[in-house]
Amino acid sequence: MGPQASEFPVISGTLGPDGVDFRKLTAATGVFSFDPGYGETASCTSAITFIDGDQGVLLHRGYPIEQLAEHASYVETAYLLLYGELPNKQQLAEFDAHLSEQALLHEQIRNFFNGFRRDTHPMAILCGTVAALSGFYADGIDISHPASRDLSARRLIAKIPTIAAWAYRYTQGETFIYPKSNFGFAENFLSMMFARPDRKYVVKPVLARALDRIFILHADHEQNASTSTVRLVGSTGANPFACIAAGIAALWGPAHGGANEAVLTMLTAIGEKKNIPQFIEQVKDKDSGIRLMGFGHRVYKSFDPRAQILAQTYREVIEELNLDHDPLFDLATELERIARSDDYFVSRQLYPNVDFYSGLILKALGIPVSMFTVLFAVARTSGWVSQWKEMIEAPGQRIGRPRQIYTGARKRDLQPLSERP
Ligand code: CMC
Repeated sequence: MGPQASEFPVISGTLGPDGVDFRKLTAATGVFSFDPGYGETASCTSAITFIDGDQGVLLHRGYPIEQLAEHASYVETAYLLLYGELPNKQQLAEFDAHLSEQALLHEQIRNFFNGFRRDTHPMAILCGTVAALSGFYADGIDISHPASRDLSARRLIAKIPTIAAWAYRYTQGETFIYPKSNFGFAENFLSMMFARPDRKYVVKPVLARALDRIFILHADHEQNASTSTVRLVGSTGANPFACIAAGIAALWGPAHGGANEAVLTMLTAIGEKKNIPQFIEQVKDKDSGIRLMGFGHRVYKSFDPRAQILAQTYREVIEELNLDHDPLFDLATELERIARSDDYFVSRQLYPNVDFYSGLILKALGIPVSMFTVLFAVARTSGWVSQWKEMIEAPGQRIGRPRQIYTGARKRDLQPLSERP
């Protein structure tokens, strides 16, 4: 019997469980640890985001997400994630101005869009175009220089919204709207999505604030699949644009970024309020394979703090747009009411998660469902670049290289083709 887990050093963080340092496990015992899906494995130390799912806690650099959503903007949150502290007024003004300046794309990037079919999914356009940015911004890809890392991080936060909005315009056959420096981050995104070149575009503050909140709430979520992908790709020394394109690809999967889209698909399938009871019965029947989309969470088991914030924002948006009696939103409100008072959901602590409300808010803002994951990517870029930068700057950073338990054939001799039966 080799050494026990208790004989390995323990790494302690400031909050949350300690970690057993297994870096010498194989050398000491000859065995690997086995944890497919990495549910029990800390892949890094990180000072950016803390989650306590049981208590419904989400902190960025120590600040509760509720306080950030209430008192800060997405740009402030991005600064906080990237640099570790909230900006003062001057730092925020400089950061904001730099993001505005960087929001423009190299004019030749326009040509990329024309290469896609008009019915291309906007995530494909986003993923491909972001990977191509390294060809245009080569002065930011030397990752050994702090200033160059910083420039690329800022460029990605600033340019991805423009690519995202243009991906949508392209699929609609509409003129590209250039970013405007007098607009805030969310306002600018809405303008690039919906403005017409021949008219003045005015964004209602409640709607810009709602989108900004969605961006804040999706900015980072520690070592999820897309962030871990960014770190793994980044650990090879790949340029930051390639790393973020890999993160976008990971986010594209329905198990990661697609839940708010699924909420809208579910509501469309239910169709009318009178069909809710029958739908709820199907959800309770385990054999049906149907789940109430936008309810429950793998990590947050008591409540999703992000959902509580968006629930209020959702009501504000519905009121502002006079959508109270719109059949879709009426159906969503009724479904939420019924599920929240049904013992099946209450006893299992299944509450609406962030995707339930974000899907409804985005729909109310006129964002098409195909763009939901794209918006998630816009928001998550600040988290991805912050995690990427933290990884590159960590002492002793090395390439990510998981091991395996081999289950294939044992060593055997090859029979030449002429001798095989
Ligand atoms: N509808 C119906 N039953 C559910 C649901 C649901 N949405 N979620 C969980 N349950 C049931 C589950 O079947 C189990 O029942 P029982 O105890 O009788 O076997 C019980 O509740 C406990 O489930 P769990 O183990 O706590 O949940 P999980 O970890 O297996 O699933 C989940 C988590 C998010 C995959 C699941 O809740 C789900 O499929 N939700 C709908 C999809 C969704 O909204 N996903 C987005 C999550 S937020 C993403 C983000 O953070 O970005």
